[in-house]
Amino acid sequence: MNASTAIDTAAIRAALPSLSRRVHDDKSMIYLDAAASMPRPASVIDAVRAFDEQFPANVHRATHQLASEATQAFESARGDVARFINAASPEEIIFTRGTTEAINLFANSWGAINLSDGDEVLITAIEHHANIVPWQLLSQRTGCVLRVIDCRDDGSVDAKEAEAAITDRTRLVSITWISNALGTVVDVKAIVAAAKSRGITTHLDAAQAVPHRRVDALAIGADAMSFSGHKMFGPTGIGVLWARSEMLQGMSPYQGGGEMIKSVSFEGSTWNDPPWRFEAGTPNIGGAIGLGAAVQWLEEIGMDAIASHDAAMTSELVDRLSHIPRVVLVGTPADRSGAVSFNVEDMHHADVGMLLDRHGIAVRTGHHCAEPSMDRMSVTGTVRASLGCFTNSSDLEALDTALRRVIEVFG
Ligand code: ALA
Repeated sequence: MNASTAIDTAAIRAALPSLSRRVHDDKSMIYLDAAASMPRPASVIDAVRAFDEQFPANVHRATHQLASEATQAFESARGDVARFINAASPEEIIFTRGTTEAINLFANSWGAINLSDGDEVLITAIEHHANIVPWQLLSQRTGCVLRVIDCRDDGSVDAKEAEAAITDRTRLVSITWISNALGTVVDVKAIVAAAKSRGITTHLDAAQAVPHRRVDALAIGADAMSFSGHKMFGPTGIGVLWARSEMLQGMSPYQGGGEMIKSVSFEGSTWNDPPWRFEAGTPNIGGAIGLGAAVQWLEEIGMDAIASHDAAMTSELVDRLSHIPRVVLVGTPADRSGAVSFNVEDMHHADVGMLLDRHGIAVRTGHHCAEPSMDRMSVTGTVRASLGCFTNSSDLEALDTALRRVIEVFG
């Protein structure tokens, strides 16, 4: 048991088989790339395997035993996700391929019919490309305009400045909760409240929030929210768009095909109810079932315990990196979670990442699918160390030691 928190990292690590991998001449693998993808718990792997082995049938179509079991498990996973984020009902959960598809779905199904020429979509300067490009594509079709709330030099977002950026033409505030590149925690509750008080629709990119803190859809007050399965210990290729049911009722289909219709004839078709209206074709059934298992796994650990553990580890990571000569932190927001970006003077971030990998340390380098964040911080890219509830002080010490060695030998 870690003395500073209620988290049993030894038990958590034992449940994550990929963490015991050895790499490069049998070195222990230290996984500090959690913001890109979390390791998969054995219970998630087992749940997906059970689907593949025992009832690999389609959902909502046939009446045979295997199809019933698949449908039951798929819809039960929807219920797990709804409970996890405190949605009003499972029907508010749309399964997508991930955050990217969730935001594209929202832009196409809500944005295309609610945003017109000159309407403004407000985002922050520290968005992931997934919460930038769909709005640029929509802008080409509808004439809506993308407006950006700047961040401070430390990578934090001032909620007052965000409020001041709202104009009479703002129709949507779509912002990240936690920056994947800088780790900045945005005060989304305050910004959502400011937008709501003016009747403006709000959407949150919660991809980096769901694995690190309790996400309560009703309490946060937003209208819609997107996140990915693999960033919360679930499988890849599965994610969620949550939206209030009144919104979903008014949204048009994203893709056409099977499942999303009530009736089809050559003269025309009618649409199914949400969420199935937005799940055309055979969905990623195994992925959804795995996501349900991931949610149960996180709930067993407890999101409040995870939040305090991740905060302690993030703070230790910042502290360690701040004391290594020639390491320059990129973004130093006071409120941050899970990810820390840095560079080493006179070394390229890609080289640092590659050399750390030779020591068995897995980090991500580059622009982190957040080029505007990099531009704002005046860098071309960074090394990013990111962590999760499995991270312990030994991992951070290993990074500290390896980074000092890399700088000493190659810097
Ligand atoms: N968006 C993921 C990351 O931050 C892939 O690395």
